[in-house]
Amino acid sequence: MYVCVCNAVSSSRLKQALNEGKLTVGELRQHFGFESCCGKCTSCMRSLINEHIQSTANNTSGDLPCKVTKQSFSC
Ligand code: FES
Repeated sequence: MYVCVCNAVSSSRLKQALNEGKLTVGELRQHFGFESCCGKCTSCMRSLINEHIQSTANNTSGDLPCKVTKQSFSC
């Protein structure tokens, strides 16, 4: 499934970028090297960023990224 049709960014590529620490729309756009065309993907990217942050914060396996804690973000 494409998150950004204008720039052919799939959800799997976006999730990989999130796992690499790209946690803002601007960082994702820079990572994929595109400028907004129609902008229809912006809200979807924000939702996926929020879902990723939530799932990372809820990870209680003990292998959390160093900057993320269950209660807050320290960056
Ligand atoms: S769908 Fe991403 S800029 Fe158009």
